[in-house]
Amino acid sequence: MSSASVTAELDAVLGDATARLAAAPDLETITALDAEFLGKKSAVTVAKKQLGQLDPSDRKAAGQAINAARAALEQAVADARERLAVGARQAQYESERLDLTERLGAVRRGSLHLNTQARDRLEDVFVSMGFTVAEGPEVETAWYNFEALNIPDWHPARGSFDTIFVNLGEPEQVMLRSHTSPVQIRTMENTAPPIYIVAPGRTFRTDTADATHLPAFNQIEGLVVDRGITLGDLHGTIEAFVHAFFGGEVKTRLRPSYFPFTEPSAEFDISREDGSWLELGGCGMVHPKVLRNCGIDPEEWQGFAFGFGIDRLAVMRYELDDIRELVNNDVRFLRQF
Ligand code: PHE
Repeated sequence: MSSASVTAELDAVLGDATARLAAAPDLETITALDAEFLGKKSAVTVAKKQLGQLDPSDRKAAGQAINAARAALEQAVADARERLAVGARQAQYESERLDLTERLGAVRRGSLHLNTQARDRLEDVFVSMGFTVAEGPEVETAWYNFEALNIPDWHPARGSFDTIFVNLGEPEQVMLRSHTSPVQIRTMENTAPPIYIVAPGRTFRTDTADATHLPAFNQIEGLVVDRGITLGDLHGTIEAFVHAFFGGEVKTRLRPSYFPFTEPSAEFDISREDGSWLELGGCGMVHPKVLRNCGIDPEEWQGFAFGFGIDRLAVMRYELDDIRELVNNDVRFLRQF
């Protein structure tokens, strides 16, 4: 045996070890290779033990070759371990990764209900015209819902309101308000003119739900009380609001009508694309009796009032086929708006 043959053998071992360590798939394999190439029975250990058998002149070179081979093998094992550790860390990062973009496509933002959108827009339009927003309770007494509005209990108009009564106190004296007009009374009782208010809110009648009716619906009331107010102011206000809400192409018209709390009274319609008219609500000049009921002198103050359905407005604006869509709460419908 010579140092040259030791070197050649160790070179071969190193080549074999390097290749197998590079291919090692896991730590156990590397530990086994570590034992095989650096352990007690490994080529480097055996070669070292056999150094004594070499010619003394060859021992130094052979010893150096063995040390170099051991160092190279140790390095190869360390490199292989490091390679696996990096891979394992990467796998761990990968498995623990939080994909924060994952839900972006799936998450949908909700939106305001059509009625709320319509009401907000209405309020914006009227507030920009100088009105403030007023409120009243949904459960009313006969005084606010009827009497103060000049509808005594013998009055036939009382029947036309299809009132839902509430079993509280005197029979037929407490009810779900059948219109937002009681807010007129509450406002005039508490506020000295000039008054410019709108009052949106829920209203109730014994109607059966169909394509154009809901038993619980929404109205918006308007009330102006000031000096020298005329029917022209009423029509101008309705026209300005309709233009702001629907756009300039939509026309309005007033038709004579009857409400006990306004005189004269009218219904107001808006024009549809096909040339027909859609009834939106009622309006008129506040009846002197109503002003007096609220302690306001009709000789000094005049006013106009109007009231119309917000749901109908939403139906018209969003071109719905059926008003019940507004309360079905079908998300496939609601998502479109
Ligand atoms: N309150 C009436 C209704 O619900 C509408 C209306 C309001 C009419 C104000 C005139 C003045 O039918």
